Amino acid sequence: MADKNQQAYHPAAANGYSRNDAETGGVDPRELRRQKQKKWALYIIAFVIFQTGIIVLFTFTVMKFRTPKFRVRNFKSFDTFDVQPATPSFNMRMNAQFGVKNTNFGPFKYGNTTVTFYYKGTEVGSTTVRKSKANFRSTKKVNVPVDLVMPTTLASSADLKSDLNSGILPLTCQAKMNGKVEIMFIFKKKRTANMNCTMEVDIPTKSLKNLKCK
Ligand SMILES: *[C@@H]1O[C@H](CO)[C@@H](O)[C@H](O)[C@H]1NC(C)=O
Ligand SMILES: *[C@@H]1O[C@H](CO)[C@@H](O)[C@H](O)[C@H]1NC(C)=O
Repeated sequence: MADKNQQAYHPAAANGYSRNDAETGGVDPRELRRQKQKKWALYIIAFVIFQTGIIVLFTFTVMKFRTPKFRVRNFKSFDTFDVQPATPSFNMRMNAQFGVKNTNFGPFKYGNTTVTFYYKGTEVGSTTVRKSKANFRSTKKVNVPVDLVMPTTLASSADLKSDLNSGILPLTCQAKMNGKVEIMFIFKKKRTANMNCTMEVDIPTKSLKNLKCK
């Protein structure tokens, strides 16, 4: 209040220049404008940098299309378990759990996928994982049985005879799961999850061990 009164009676008050001086603490108004402009320019630059950062972050996280992983997750049990080392022959039904791990920020929709099991390169069984989807950043678990039956081509295999006698049946399984990753409903990309697992059937304990997937 005191200041205003003083200013009102000041002879130089008529002069806008001087009034401004009083309001701004003696800074040239053009200088003040320049400072304001500079401040705004800095805000705009900071905002643009911030926006660019957000976009880059978004591109490398949310918008990044990652290839899902398809693998044998778990072994539950054997329903049938008929192994004859002497013949040799085997016939078993394995209850396996497969997993489709999707780390994308959107669902992975896949088609019917055949998983083939091999004993030293010879096909011994296959099963189908039916078409479905793995949701946003989650693992879809599917339980399906697999019949593992010795093909006649292995009937005279000395390798098989010795493996069955040793109590360990080594197996591998492979699959190619074709699907589409969908991000924010509109961005879609085809992705193929390759399965390549190795495992050992432990005959005395009727269990599965050393399950490893790439
Ligand atoms: C997927 O497999 C199921 C049976 O397992 C079949 O009914 C369906 O037609 C198949 N879908 C495609 C697209 O092949
Ligand atoms: C699976 O892995 C084995 C080695 O463990 C390799 O020889 C084979 O080429 C792989 N198969 C595929 C389809 O990646």
